[in-house]
Order: sequence, then structure tokens, then C-alpha cells
Amino acid sequence: MKSEKIALITGASKGIGAATARLLGKEYEIIINYNSSQKDVEAVADSIVSGGGNARLIQADLSTEAGCRKLHEFASENCDHLDVLVNNAGAMVAQKTVEDLDWPYMEKVFELNVYSVMMMSRLCLPLLRKGIKPCIINLSSIAMRHGAPRSPAYGAAKSAVDSFSRGLAGHLGPDIRVNAVAPGVIDTPFHDELTPPEVKKTMIEKTPLKCLGKAEDVASAIEFLIKNEFITGETIDVNGGLYVR
Ligand SMILES: NC(=O)c1ccc[n+]([C@@H]2O[C@H](COP(=O)([O-])OP(=O)(O)OC[C@H]3O[C@@H](n4cnc5c(N)ncnc54)[C@H](OP(=O)(O)O)[C@@H]3O)[C@@H](O)[C@H]2O)c1
Repeated sequence: MKSEKIALITGASKGIGAATARLLGKEYEIIINYNSSQKDVEAVADSIVSGGGNARLIQADLSTEAGCRKLHEFASENCDHLDVLVNNAGAMVAQKTVEDLDWPYMEKVFELNVYSVMMMSRLCLPLLRKGIKPCIINLSSIAMRHGAPRSPAYGAAKSAVDSFSRGLAGHLGPDIRVNAVAPGVIDTPFHDELTPPEVKKTMIEKTPLKCLGKAEDVASAIEFLIKNEFITGETIDVNGGLYVR
């Protein structure tokens, strides 16, 4: 991967990351990070390759500094530049209301959702500076807009991602653009153990567009932010109108 356009996508074995890898894989060489879902990530890579693209896979647990450094090292060894970094890896970890918060849980939520974004952005800066019109896209959440009553630590983490993105945009312009996407309820494995069918039904009823989002809906917003060269420091809501301001 020496001269092509290159995108690194974290947490791309499933859901939004996988859809983004498949979409960007038509135009970019892709570095796909995953943590535990090897079979899923191989299927993502196969679909990119069968479409004529090029994908490389790297396992790394981004909730640790060692994992972030491992991923960055792999990117440095395989690429001489990066054009796009999508900091997508994230999870709610568990649903805990304020009464149940404990230190290890709060650490885990912030390590995975916030520290990974900060560390990967910091580590990848030299590679991005060698890219062509490079940009970073971070995955925030609708939880950043209205809080997450059943998971306030997760909502706070996604608010941190949003603020971090804007801070970076101010600092890194005009060389590197930084934006975020804040998905609403998107039908991905994210909800498998967290969101029972009756809660999904309620979310659909509350959503003006009367459906859940698809991973591809978020991927296309990410692609839009990559392509539009006059947007930085922005967060795009992709939520079917669930948060109407
Ligand atoms: N789905 C929603 O409704 C929704 C709403 C708002 C925001 N978001 C945000 O959007 C992003 C993607 O969510 P999604 O719905 O696509 O989730 P998902 O379907 O559960 O996929 C999560 C991805 O993150 C990876 N990941 C998890 N822990 C990791 C770790 N420690 N190190 C590296 N990768 C890790 C997973 O990889 P492995 O499976 O290989 O471990 C997987 O590829 C997340 O940041 C999430 O917080 C989602």
C-alpha cells in the first residue's frame, strides 16, 4: 500500500464499521481492525477483494494502549500515508444507571469509546499528514445529544468524542479535517444483548421516520464527510429524526 488512497477503519468486523469498509473499499485500500470477530472480518475483507479492492486485517484490542500501538505499528509498516481514519470501534459495554456505576466499568467505557479515539488520532497524525486532503471521522452517538438515562457513562463518553472532534478540527485545520457522526438507533449487533425487541419497537414508534437505521445509512454519512472538503468540526446526526432540534 504505497501510492493508493488508504483508509483505516477501527472496529470494522461488524455493523457500521463493516458497512463503511465495504463502501470505502470501492475507492480506497482498506486497513480493517477488529478485536474478536475473526470470521466476520474475513467476510468483510472477502467482499472488498471480490469487488476488486484491497483489504488488510489486523486484530487489536483498542481499549488498551498496547492495542492502539499495535494497530498503528501495522499501519506504519504497511502504508507510507493515510488519507482517512475512521474511529468507529466502540460499545456500550453494559447498561448501568448511575446507582450501579463502578470504577472498572467507567474505565472500560472510556478506554474503549474515548481513549481509543484520542490515541489512534494522535498516533496516526504523521501518516495522515502525508495523505492527500486527509480527514478523521469519529463515531459519536445520539446519546451525546440527549444523554443516556440507562447508560449515562456511555452518553458521557460519546459527548467526549464529540468535543474531542471539534477541538481537533480547530487545531489541525487546514491540513486535516475532523468530523463526527452521531447515529441514532441503528440495527446492528450493537443492540443484540442490550435492546430487547419491545424497546426497539418503542424506539421505532418515537422515530419520525418510523424505522431503525441501517449500518449503510451511517456509512454513507461518513463517506459524505470524507468527500466534502469544506466541512470540519461538524457532527452529522443520522437518526431518522429521533432527535429533532
Ligand atoms: N448501533 C447503534 O445504534 C449506534 C448508535 C450510536 C452510536 N453507535 C456507535 O457506532 C460505532 C459502531 O457501532 P455498531 O453499531 O456498528 O456496533 P457493533 O455492530 O457492535 O460493532 C462494533 C465493532 O467494534 C469492534 N470493537 C468492539 N470492541 C473493540 C475493541 N476493544 N477493540 C477493537 N474493536 C472493537 C467490534 O469488533 P469485534 O466484534 O471484532 O470485537 C465490532 O467490529 C460504535 O462506536 C458505537 O458506539 C452505534
